[in-house]
Parts: sequence; C-alpha cells; structure tokens
Amino acid sequence: MDQQKAFDKPANTDVQEHLFRSVDDVAKRLKPEAPIQCIFPQPVRDQAQKFIALFPGRVLYAVKCNPGPEFLRHMYAAGIREFDVASLEEARLIKGLFPKGVTMHFMHPVKSREAIRLAYKMGIRTFSLDSAGELMKILEETKSAQDLTLLIRMAVSGNAAAYDLSGKFGAAPSSASDLLRHARKVAHKLGVCFHVGSQCMDPAAYSAAIARAADVIAKAKVKVDIIDVGGGFPATYPNMTPPALEDFIAAITDTAQPLTDSIGVTPGAELWCEPGRAMVAAGGSMLVRVTLRKGRRLYINDGTYGSLFDAGALNWRFPVRLVRPLSKSGKNSTAPNTRVPSDKLVPYTFYGPTCDNLDKMKGPFMLPEDTQEGDWIEIGMLGAYGATMQTRFNGFHSTVVATVWPELNAVSAPRPAVGRPNLRVVRNAPAVQPALPAPQAMAEPAPELSADGHTAAPVIDLK
Ligand SMILES: Cc1ncc(COP(=O)(O)O)c(C=O)c1O
Repeated sequence: MDQQKAFDKPANTDVQEHLFRSVDDVAKRLKPEAPIQCIFPQPVRDQAQKFIALFPGRVLYAVKCNPGPEFLRHMYAAGIREFDVASLEEARLIKGLFPKGVTMHFMHPVKSREAIRLAYKMGIRTFSLDSAGELMKILEETKSAQDLTLLIRMAVSGNAAAYDLSGKFGAAPSSASDLLRHARKVAHKLGVCFHVGSQCMDPAAYSAAIARAADVIAKAKVKVDIIDVGGGFPATYPNMTPPALEDFIAAITDTAQPLTDSIGVTPGAELWCEPGRAMVAAGGSMLVRVTLRKGRRLYINDGTYGSLFDAGALNWRFPVRLVRPLSKSGKNSTAPNTRVPSDKLVPYTFYGPTCDNLDKMKGPFMLPEDTQEGDWIEIGMLGAYGATMQTRFNGFHSTVVATVWPELNAVSAPRPAVGRPNLRVVRNAPAVQPALPAPQAMAEPAPELSADGHTAAPVIDLK
C-alpha cells in the first residue's frame, strides 16, 4: 500500500456502542466485567455551543483530549467545524468522520517530515512551530507552498495550571520574534500561539500570555494575522472549582483588544482558541468494577495504564459514586451487592488491574463504607484525557462505549439545532426501553457525517 493510500484509510473507529438512560441502567443491563466508557452527549453539545457563542473568534477542538468518534460527532452536531490535530492519525480520524466541510490545523510544534508532507497533501494548511529547524522542514516538505498559515508557538508560564505544559515546547521571546520575522516572508497567514497549561485556574494567565505575545510581535515589527490562545480552559473537579468560562473569555478579549482592533500593532488579528478539557470533561465517565476489597484498598478493573492516568500519575481526585443496582426485593435484600448502600462515606485508595506498582490511585475517594467486591463505581469528569490514555498493558483494555442520553426521553424536546446523532439502531431489537425515542425517529443518518462505508454509524443496541 503506498503512503497516500495508507493515509486515506479511515482511522479505526471500531468500538461497540450502546444507548442508555442512566449510568445505573448501564450497570444493571450490561453487568460489565470490563470498564465501560459512558458518554453524555448533552453536556458535550452544550459546552461546544457555549464556546462557539462566547469566544470572539475561531474555536478549534483539540482532538487529543478525546478523539472518541461519538464525542466528535456530537461536537460537529453542535457546530464545531475546526479541529486541532496533533498527528496524522488524528487527521485521518477527522477526515474519515467528516470528509467535507471541516478544517484541520496541525498544532504539534514538532512533526516528522512525512507527517508534514502528507498533512499538506491532505489539505492541512496550518502548522505550528517553535524553531527554525521546524520552519525549514515545513517549507521543504510543502515545497515552499504559498498558502501556509504558520503559527509560532511562544513559551509562556504554566504556573496557573494544574498541568504545566511549559517544559517541552515554546520559543523564548527573542527567538519567537526572530521566527515571526522569518515566517512572515514565507507565510500566507502568520500567527502566534501558546498554551498556558491544562486546567488553568486563573484568567490572568491568558492576559499575561497575550501581553507577552504583544511584546514579541512589537519587537518583530511584522503584521500578525492570528492570536491563538491555545487550550487550558478548566473544568470543575473535586477541590478544583475554577472561575467561569465567561471570566476567561473576558480576560482574553480585553487583553487582546489592541491586537484585534482595526488600528494598532497588528490590526484586525483574529483570535483562535483550542479547547480540549473544558469542552469534554463533563461529557464522560468510566463505570468500573471492584475486583477485590482489602480494607480501604479497592482493587478495580481500570487504572493508571487505563483511563485513570491523571488519578494515578498526578493524584487527581475525580468524583466517584457507588453504582449498585438494587434487586427486585430492594431494601429488604440481604445479598451484599443488592442491599441499599450505607450512607456513611469513608476514604478509599484505588488499585488498578495491572501488576505494576504505579497502578495505584491514591485518592482518597469517598465511597460507602460497605463497598464490596462486585460493586460498580462511576468515576466522573473523565470525558477529557480518560479513555484516550488507555494502553493494553497486562491485557487490560476496553472499547465498550455506553451513550447515556436521558435528555432524548423528552419526546417534546426540540431537536438539536444542527445535525443529529449519527446513530444506527438495531431495528429488530426488542425495544425494552419505552422511554427512548422510537427507532425510526433516530434512524435517519446525518448524511454529511457518514459519507463512506468505513465510518458507518455505531449501532445502538436497544436490547
Ligand atoms: C497544542 C495544544 N492545544 C490544545 C490542547 C488542549 O489543552 P486543554 O485540554 O488543556 O484545553 C493541548 C493539550 O495538550 C495542546 O497541546
């Protein structure tokens, strides 16, 4: 297979997907032995629409944060048409899902020559860079194309972020000015970009970064067309309640005004942002199961090498909730996994399924004192950097996705304004959930989302 053919091959989107009205329903009906990724379309769509409505510029979704095809389709349905891709694989995924009408931007500052060449052939015109070497590679591999949008990644402080990203990429101010001058001669459009770190808790970090960008631009004495404020917008986790998105956007708009105004250093520059975490964190959780309890240690079926990297490596505490579907006998049951759980919450540490020492999530995670082997636990806020971090270490891996969309129950609810879920229903499956919409109502494909056989819509199993 030649490179172009390999490149055209759609990314693997081979996951099993199911539709449910609650996470408890997932546990009750599937009784899953392996972890299940639950996705919540409504928060994903709402957050995408909020970003588009509030941000005074272009909103690029950072695919790396959650490349799940379902997430991407819901974002598309909500109006997202621009994607920040970090690799050819992500570019293939986006192209496979949305063959037309979307724009991709290659925002990884260090790319292989092959990736640059193939990305350009594929139609990608935006590339970020933070060094003269990378600029040279981009020019050579695109044969000095005249239609490039080049974004110079500047180093900025990551102090206000829970996850500092300042150590790896970003040109220091004087190099950034030099790069701007050089790139101006060859770029059709020129911009600066930065990343203030993921889960940035302070809007002032964006103001400081934009002020630094303004200095760099002033020193370079060139016209700049784009100010890309990157990702970093925060989500709410236990012990981490950030200011509202509106506050971040107000800080960005105010500080960028001299750059975006029609008069000024670089008149009429466009604002871009590349949110990942804030867009999807609330849109997903993992349903995991307790394999063994040893005192306050819970051995669960997901971990640091699975969807819980941040909980293990960074000691992040995610919200947790015991999921114990009650038996028909309900309260009167005496079997441990069908009794009403205790009201008393006690702290636990989680241990993942692999044999590795690092596969431990310190927490503490507060759960009922009678949590048992066989109970399920919903670990929330894992739509961002959750399932996407999974490895297959020790043979543990899960690709089952449960779509939890109770909002679809409301028959009178208005249909989403843009598009609809690209969901294919097993038509002859017994519809045991009368509250869900009639299969026919959901069976129409969204043609723009499924133009080729490879990206066939996921099956909704209504069994
Ligand atoms: C270039 C780039 N843009 C955007 C993002 C998304 O960041 P976040 O998830 O913090 O919004 C990242 C994350 O690493 C990134 O590297």
